Amino acid sequence: MISSSLDALFRPFRLKSLTLKNRIVMAPMTRSFSPGGVPGADVAAYYRRRAEGEVGLILSEGTAIDRPGARNDPNVPFFHGEAALAGWQRVIQEVHAAGGRMGPQIWHVGAVKSFQTEWEQGGIESPSGLVAPGAPRGEAMSEEAVADTIAAYGRAAADARRLGFDVVEIHGAHGYLLDQFFWSGTNARGDRYGGATLKQRSRFAAEVVKAIRGAVGPDFPIILRLSQWKQQDYAVRLADTPDAMADWLVPLAEAGVDAFHCSQRRFWEAEFPEVDGEDGLNFAGWAKTLTGAGTISVGSVGLSGDFFGSFGGEGSEPAGLDALLRRLERDEFDLIAVGRALLNDPRWALKIRAGDTDGLKAFSAGAFAELV
Ligand SMILES: Cc1cc2nc3c(=O)[nH]c(=O)nc-3n(C[C@H](O)[C@H](O)[C@H](O)COP(=O)(O)O)c2cc1C
Repeated sequence: MISSSLDALFRPFRLKSLTLKNRIVMAPMTRSFSPGGVPGADVAAYYRRRAEGEVGLILSEGTAIDRPGARNDPNVPFFHGEAALAGWQRVIQEVHAAGGRMGPQIWHVGAVKSFQTEWEQGGIESPSGLVAPGAPRGEAMSEEAVADTIAAYGRAAADARRLGFDVVEIHGAHGYLLDQFFWSGTNARGDRYGGATLKQRSRFAAEVVKAIRGAVGPDFPIILRLSQWKQQDYAVRLADTPDAMADWLVPLAEAGVDAFHCSQRRFWEAEFPEVDGEDGLNFAGWAKTLTGAGTISVGSVGLSGDFFGSFGGEGSEPAGLDALLRRLERDEFDLIAVGRALLNDPRWALKIRAGDTDGLKAFSAGAFAELV
């Protein structure tokens, strides 16, 4: 099942103050196991098991910044307030005790509603009061709300560092708040946070990154997660050409992003096949080429089906890693995030390293119901 050498996957990587023992990243995955927004001992043990399982870098589930509308599910954790931060401190202490490295993924959902719960937060806000083109939801953010939100991102990052986390990831993907600013379909603002170009609409994200950089200092790594697709429209793309992608990413790198986490459904899909062919660079590969920053790729590693299918109830079988190893060997991207395979099995990386392909588990949607 795996015929290539695993060396490319199990070699260290350095990102500023952070040294990782291998290239495997646990993808951020919302689990909704934090009642009242407070991650408990079960959540800490769940992440600790991934550290014990030799995952190089663990990214937490999305965790809400200090804005009333930041989360859309009452069991999603906060990343503010004494009780939640004490819970997160326990998480990082356990992960470190097991030799792991970890960062929280800090999150504001904007106007997106959860598909798992009817619960409604107060204070729903979005760039222009739209969740999708022509679909009103949430208050259009005032300049004061924008400034307060940027400050809340900065506080969350400062707390991440203070609690002992190794890195912070900003969730800028999948149609949530930052992505609502990027997307012309949801950003119709006439002020400096809007505009006809993607570069103009990236100003909000750039200011978030700058605020975080100011809060964490020069050496603490900042990861920004981005996607072309949105849950509101899987087919839409922000950047149709490498030039458009450069206009989007280069200013964000200049604002202080150390690594781009480039979300796609299948890591092997070329981002611009019309430019470099069907086996061409993926999103992370282009991000690395255009910016020189670190990059994380993701999408269906080790499984036969993609995660949209899993949300629809489809099962997936274990799949080989040869295509991934080839791309890692040519340094197309630096790190690879693994979602469902690690949600399902904290020992996935150990099994891969040991060549225990018989021990790899199939994935079924039932896995979403518990913290294994
Ligand atoms: C249950 C579940 C929850 C997710 N929650 C988040 C999240 O909070 N933040 C995020 O950026 N992506 C989230 N994702 C997307 C994953 O990080 C990842 O990109 C996706 O699952 C593809 O990787 P995979 O094919 O290895 O599972 C989630 C995915 C799953 C399956």
